[in-house]
Amino acid sequence: MNTNKKVCIVGASGKLGRYMVQHALDRGYEVVGVCRERSVGKLAQFADQITIIPGPTNDREVIRKAVAGCDGVLTVLAPWGIQQYSSGTAQAVLDYAEPDARLIFSCGWHIARDGKDTYSWRFRAAVKLITWLARAVRAVEIDDQVEACRRIFASDRKWTVVRGSDLEEGESQGLPVWSRHVGDPVLESNLTRRVDFALFMVEALTDDSLVQEAPAIVGRLAPSAVNR
Ligand SMILES: NC(=O)c1ccc[n+]([C@@H]2O[C@H](COP(=O)([O-])OP(=O)(O)OC[C@H]3O[C@@H](n4cnc5c(N)ncnc54)[C@H](OP(=O)(O)O)[C@@H]3O)[C@@H](O)[C@H]2O)c1
Repeated sequence: MNTNKKVCIVGASGKLGRYMVQHALDRGYEVVGVCRERSVGKLAQFADQITIIPGPTNDREVIRKAVAGCDGVLTVLAPWGIQQYSSGTAQAVLDYAEPDARLIFSCGWHIARDGKDTYSWRFRAAVKLITWLARAVRAVEIDDQVEACRRIFASDRKWTVVRGSDLEEGESQGLPVWSRHVGDPVLESNLTRRVDFALFMVEALTDDSLVQEAPAIVGRLAPSAVNR
């Protein structure tokens, strides 16, 4: 149990966010959730167990209020809108979280940390196409998630950037396996249960070996993880 420990979940109403709320409550954390005003209803099942702060996650005042007094901040980096949604959210968390807070951010394998990740041509082509298409319809801004992570990597905070593989729904398989670099054979299956992505994020709060790491994860029962 983590009685007295408080965590903020930024982007709590999404699929990943709601799994994180449940894992955090199961571990006895006091939870503050931030989500867009229109999405508050998606947190109805937790309404009497958590504090909800409605507002855009890139609103600096909303984040300042939400992270006050929190020992950890779990942030879903959502590359939405052409308005620095991801980078604005990440910057506000970096600026306002308590000095010693553990800061855990979510993103995908496409975020490269140190130039040592290796990607298949198929993966590269897919990211290029999605980035271009998304920008064309002005709905999603993948480049801004890249900028958000650049700022996090440059920060001296106690951050962890969890890089998710492709995701699927389903029962938990336990804590995912991770590698420092995409391209490691252990990751080859490229599939993780979303509930376990959330589990990895919440467990990272208390795993100091992940401070200033960008683990790329895969499901622990994925064939490439089982046969390693
Ligand atoms: N989907 C994948 O296959 C995949 C693969 C690897 C990594 N990831 C990473 O996993 C994390 C969660 O992604 P997810 O795909 O699983 O989705 P998700 O958990 O449902 O999260 C989507 C988030 O984006 C917000 N959002 C949706 N539309 C928005 C808009 N127009 N403006 C602002 N915010 C908006 C949602 O908030 P509301 O509840 O308010 O709508 C929610 O917080 C992300 O960091 C993503 O990069 C995803």
